Amino acid sequence: MKQLGLYIHVPFCKQKCNYCDFYSCASSERVSSYINALITHIKAEAPLYRDCEIDSVFFGGGTPSLLEASDFERIAEALKDSFNFSNDCEFTIEANPGTISREKLITYKNSGVNRLSIGLQTTFDDKLRELGRIHTYGEFLESFNLARACGFDNISVDVMYSLPNQTVDELFQTLVTVCDLSPEHISSYCLKIEEKTVFGKIKDTLSLPSEDTEYEMYISMCTLLEKRGYKQYEISNFAKAGRESRHNLKYWQSEEYVGFGPSAHSYVNGKRYYYSPNLSSYINSVEQSKTVEKIYEDGENEHNLDEISQTDEYVMLKLRLSKGISEDEFFARFGKHLLEKYPKITAYLDSGYMKKSNGSYSFTPKGFFVSNYILTEILNFDN
Ligand SMILES: C[S@@+](CC[C@H](N)C(=O)[O-])C[C@H]1O[C@@H](n2cnc3c(N)ncnc32)[C@H](O)[C@@H]1O
Ligand code: SF4
Repeated sequence: MKQLGLYIHVPFCKQKCNYCDFYSCASSERVSSYINALITHIKAEAPLYRDCEIDSVFFGGGTPSLLEASDFERIAEALKDSFNFSNDCEFTIEANPGTISREKLITYKNSGVNRLSIGLQTTFDDKLRELGRIHTYGEFLESFNLARACGFDNISVDVMYSLPNQTVDELFQTLVTVCDLSPEHISSYCLKIEEKTVFGKIKDTLSLPSEDTEYEMYISMCTLLEKRGYKQYEISNFAKAGRESRHNLKYWQSEEYVGFGPSAHSYVNGKRYYYSPNLSSYINSVEQSKTVEKIYEDGENEHNLDEISQTDEYVMLKLRLSKGISEDEFFARFGKHLLEKYPKITAYLDSGYMKKSNGSYSFTPKGFFVSNYILTEILNFDN
């Protein structure tokens, strides 16, 4: 049976953080219409995947933990009634401190959730305020401890670095504090200033760390996390042995997943599409029994990604992973040698930004730091 991931987008937040451009609204007005529409949509599409086994589910957002326990339960029930789940399905929900309660955690457990991803960002309360977060470090800690007390033994914590006025030492203190809590997984993202956010609008007034400081933060973060037992398996993701996120690995390994909700992306049968980031049009389409429009990423409806974009995309995604690209797997998949297709890789091997081990090509830590630039150099879009 073909294995498939499921992504459910929950487009609501208590308030928008100053840096975030994920699709979500800071209003709970349309929550119940959304849940009804989402469930109807899930039930209508699920028969397409009758021959698939769901081995990962990810509720992302927005803030899925903002949903009432009973609403979450309804969606989870609809999924279980509509799809075949594997016995060991990884089931993650993103949770924001300040929105988690014992009742919700117990409902998650009873509904099969076995992994929580909690957004912290930094342990410094002044920085949390500047970011527009709704919680303090103390409230994060309460949520984390409550989750442990309710039996969650697979927790990921989100951290961000290169924040305005942040020092290397502050990042270090945040990471040490997080490691002391011993979550199974840590995601640590470099702050990206997004145009349409509050930070995007005031970017000239933000005092952001220099590129050298950012580099020092990245390298010292990787070193510290490795020492504390978190193996880096992706540019921004670190896990204890066996605790890598199965669902997120699907994104980077070009494996298939189906998304539901406005802005959710899917990759099925070699086609990539997403639903428009528009809550009203999503709800309206379902309520009026229209098909929710799938927007295909190659710009043309129903066309497969062509051969060139498939190899480029494969390289781009796989190089995000520490294990990189196996030359044998590349050959088996595309019938071409990796270095013949992408000869510029050789220069980055020579300069220490990439390495080859056991037949696989991957970035070194300093290569990861400038991976966006290197990728644009090595991918040959004209061929
Ligand atoms: C969908 S949000 C997490 C879930 C939950 N809403 C929360 O904030 O706790 C996913 C994560 O992406 C990261 N993120 C969001 N916007 C970012 C940005 N502009 N730059 C870097 N990381 C960002 C944050 O670490 C955030 O926790
Ligand atoms: S970081 Fe999380 S809580 Fe903040 S706006 Fe984005 S999705 Fe919402």
